[in-house]
Amino acid sequence: MSDLVTVADAGPIRTVRMNRPDKKNALTASMYDAMAEAIESANNQADVRCVVIAGGPGAFSAGNDLQEFLQAATSGEGLGAAAVRFLHALARSERPLVAAVQGVAVGVGTTMLLHCDHVIAASDARFSTPFVSLGLVPEAASSLLAPRLMGYRRAFALLVMGRSLDAAAAHTCGLVNTVVAPGDVDAEAMKAAREIAALPAEAMTAARRLMRGTSDEIVERIDEEVRLFKERLQSAEARAAFAAFLARKS
Ligand code: COA
Repeated sequence: MSDLVTVADAGPIRTVRMNRPDKKNALTASMYDAMAEAIESANNQADVRCVVIAGGPGAFSAGNDLQEFLQAATSGEGLGAAAVRFLHALARSERPLVAAVQGVAVGVGTTMLLHCDHVIAASDARFSTPFVSLGLVPEAASSLLAPRLMGYRRAFALLVMGRSLDAAAAHTCGLVNTVVAPGDVDAEAMKAAREIAALPAEAMTAARRLMRGTSDEIVERIDEEVRLFKERLQSAEARAAFAAFLARKS
């Protein structure tokens, strides 16, 4: 297990925390694998009743590591196997997912929230998905889930125009349940997780399945996006955007 992701169980609650603060929790392949493993294994552990996904002060996640995107673009690969594994794990999770978001939530840092059952955000949270500006297409089934959640036009502004949402706007469009002070995010997420974990497990699982429907449709959309994403990663538009970000301080 990489220490860039920590996994800790406290009673029935598993906390999966992204822990790469110097890079704003930008996600690498090994981080995706660690997060996928923690979510997948919870499905087989009856004593884990809820999974909290958290970042740290100032950063939930700055999205996929752009250095790794540039490498993938150069080598002809697409979104890596570990990233896809993580996205499938989110879609197929049998445990409720609660997110605790502080600071920046970019790209998959925002789109992973569409798979969560309950989201707590700090007042300093900022959500953005600059896929198209980077020459890419939306991922994580966000092209399906975001229009469903917030309506097509708000989803278009977020996913295509790359307009960001502050915590209040994210709350208004249903991406976030509760907005609290940054120092209270983890405690509020634990409170929600404990509330969920205390429910009758079988009834909660059955209700959740009814509400979420089949995960097959979501997994199919993830895979369709992955195919397009691979084409887009190779594009001159995308390569230029990654290189510009990585060179911006030099
Ligand atoms: N991939 C790789 N490194 C990243 C990163 C990413 N997605 N996001 C941030 N970093 C790194 C920066 O390069 C910087 O590293 P350095 O200190 O070695 O130069 C460090 O994290 C801090 O980032 P910085 O840009 O200085 O912080 P900021 O507070 O000014 O801005 C962001 C934060 C998230 C707004 C900005 O880093 C950003 O736009 N990142 C890219 C987000 C992105 O496009 N993600 C992919 C979406 S598909």
